[in-house]
Amino acid sequence: MQKFFRGLRLSQKIVLPMLAVCMSVFMLGLVVLGNWFTDSLQQNFRQEIVSFAERVYQDFRYEQQTLETEIELIANRDILNQAVKKHDRGLLLQILLPLKSILKLDCIKVVDTQSNVLVDLRNNSLSQANILDEVVTRTASRGAHLVDLVDVEGEEQVLQVVTNGIKSSAGLLGGIIIGRLVDDTLLQKIANGSSKYLIYHRQNRVIATTLLAIAKGENCQFPSPDLPATQIAIGNKNYLAKSIVFTGASQSLTTTVLYPISLLEVAQWKLWEHLGRLFLLGSSIVAVIGFLIARTITRHLKAVTQIAQRVTQESNFDLQAPVTTEDEVGILAISFNQLIQQVKRLLAEQHEANQKLEDYSQALEQKVEERTQALRKKNIDLKHILHELRRTQSQLIQNEKMSSLGQLVAGIAHEINNPVNFIYGNLKHTDDYTQQLLWLLQLYQKYYPYPEPEIQNAQQEADIEYLTEDLPKILTSMKIGANRIREIVLSLRIFSRLDEAEFKTADLHEGIESTLLILQHRLKSQSLDAKRLVDRHRPQITVIKEYGDIPKIQCFAGQLNQVFMNILANAIDALEEAFQNGLCPELIIRISSALVNENAVIHIADNGIGIPEAIQSHLFDPFFTTKPVGKGTGMGLSISYQIVAEKHGGSLRCISSPGQGTEFVIAIPIR
Ligand SMILES: Nc1ncnc2c1ncn2[C@@H]1O[C@H](COP(=O)(O)OP(=O)(O)OP(=O)(O)O)[C@@H](O)[C@H]1O
Ligand SMILES: [Mg+2]
Repeated sequence: MQKFFRGLRLSQKIVLPMLAVCMSVFMLGLVVLGNWFTDSLQQNFRQEIVSFAERVYQDFRYEQQTLETEIELIANRDILNQAVKKHDRGLLLQILLPLKSILKLDCIKVVDTQSNVLVDLRNNSLSQANILDEVVTRTASRGAHLVDLVDVEGEEQVLQVVTNGIKSSAGLLGGIIIGRLVDDTLLQKIANGSSKYLIYHRQNRVIATTLLAIAKGENCQFPSPDLPATQIAIGNKNYLAKSIVFTGASQSLTTTVLYPISLLEVAQWKLWEHLGRLFLLGSSIVAVIGFLIARTITRHLKAVTQIAQRVTQESNFDLQAPVTTEDEVGILAISFNQLIQQVKRLLAEQHEANQKLEDYSQALEQKVEERTQALRKKNIDLKHILHELRRTQSQLIQNEKMSSLGQLVAGIAHEINNPVNFIYGNLKHTDDYTQQLLWLLQLYQKYYPYPEPEIQNAQQEADIEYLTEDLPKILTSMKIGANRIREIVLSLRIFSRLDEAEFKTADLHEGIESTLLILQHRLKSQSLDAKRLVDRHRPQITVIKEYGDIPKIQCFAGQLNQVFMNILANAIDALEEAFQNGLCPELIIRISSALVNENAVIHIADNGIGIPEAIQSHLFDPFFTTKPVGKGTGMGLSISYQIVAEKHGGSLRCISSPGQGTEFVIAIPIR
């Protein structure tokens, strides 16, 4: 219940208890009122039945009075006096018969003073009946006036009778009795369309009734006349009953007025129905009024609540609750507005503090970032410097090596050049002189066929014939040898290019050729390390040259020779390794050149071991080598790359498939 009440809206909280109290009071009032009405209705009913009983009594009295008036009118007629005086029954009949039918009388009896019946007119229902009217007849014969009730013997019928004397100026002539039956017709006439029923009874024996549910002669327990209206049951219905007594001179007749309780119940039901409607109407009015009151009370409160909600939802602290009343709601609105202002101020302060904090933290972050960047930059610079240092160092060593080698080669070439030139230059003269000496010897042999025995012995010892035949051959081979030495010396000089250290026009094919010449000893077939392969000789490496048509180009020729030297030496190493691993029986280096897009492009390919994909990206890194310690420094390709890319603005690429071979592509732009 508490939970339910807590869940209600404020207006409902105000309205519901009020409604409950009002309804309860209202209902209680209605119940009390209803009961009061019911009681008074019942009372009214009782009152009405009593009134009705009185009216019935009056009506009965009126009937009596009518009879009295009628009898006086009849009795005082002269013609009737004369007829009685004469005992003229015929005349009496002539007079009375029309009167009986006009006045609707049930009986007319005329008697003389001796109680002899002169005329006794009755209606059909009484024609054979024995009317117990001796007393009445006697009274009439004495000329007395009497009002009475007379029984009909054996029949449940009662006659209301009136007597009067028939007098002449001479005295009393006789008496007349007129009567009317107290029957259902009379009762219906008295009831006259009323919803009430009438029953004549004597000692609870029904004589006449307007109620169909009860028959004539039936016995019923009717209330005593001195009792107020009482409830009785006839058949299966209840009635309010009130009995009254009509008294005659000798007899009396009781009449009971019945009023069906169902009518009372219907009236009561209708009353409750009206009260119910009244309750509903009242409840609706109370509910509407309650709702209006609650709305009036909560309207201002709602406005404040809505502002409170908007303030929290929109975080809008510029909103203000409207102050429309001076009651508690008004005070609440004022307090709430003050609270908003205070929160707004606090938030502004917090925001300012946050802003400051953020600024501080941003500044701090920026400083840290700057420091970190500076440190990182320094670190990178240091790394770079270290790298540069290493590179420079190794380059210096390499350069020094190459330069020493170049100088050595150049020195040797220079030293060899002069003696070889002596030999080569004098060989012509030696040949000429030898030819002349041989020609002179042939002349001596022609003109002196038989020389001195000493000469003959010397000739035989020297085997002059063979000598003359072989000497020119020796000279020719000496010429070839000297020529070869000259070529080698030239190649050494071209390779070292000591005299051409600066940027000059050079023939790349010439550089390749001189490099190949220097590497000649490595290209030749060789006996391999006895420990590994005992009986195998490494075959000669075949160099296939497919030179294209490329012009002489502007370059550092000596440095490019160094590039060729590095790449070719690597190719020879790879081929040797492949052969040792039994991978390739035929060792080939293919050198091709072409002019492609203003670039002199040289391909140097071998069918050696190839380069695994994982290390291909590291080939040009300084100090990267896969060769055993002492054999390789890992600087060859790094320096070559530098010479091609940086010094000549060209490109150096490597294409390799492991187990198939490697190809280096050098591209130098033609300037
Ligand atoms: N033609 C090739 N076939 C297979 N591997 C090669 C070839 N050329 C280069 N390499 C690989 O590239 C590596 C680096 O070569 P690089 O010439 O720079 O150094 P290196 O030959 O090891 O030593 P060095 O400084 O004596 O030349 C080699 O160790 C080798 O593994
Ligand atoms: Mg190398």
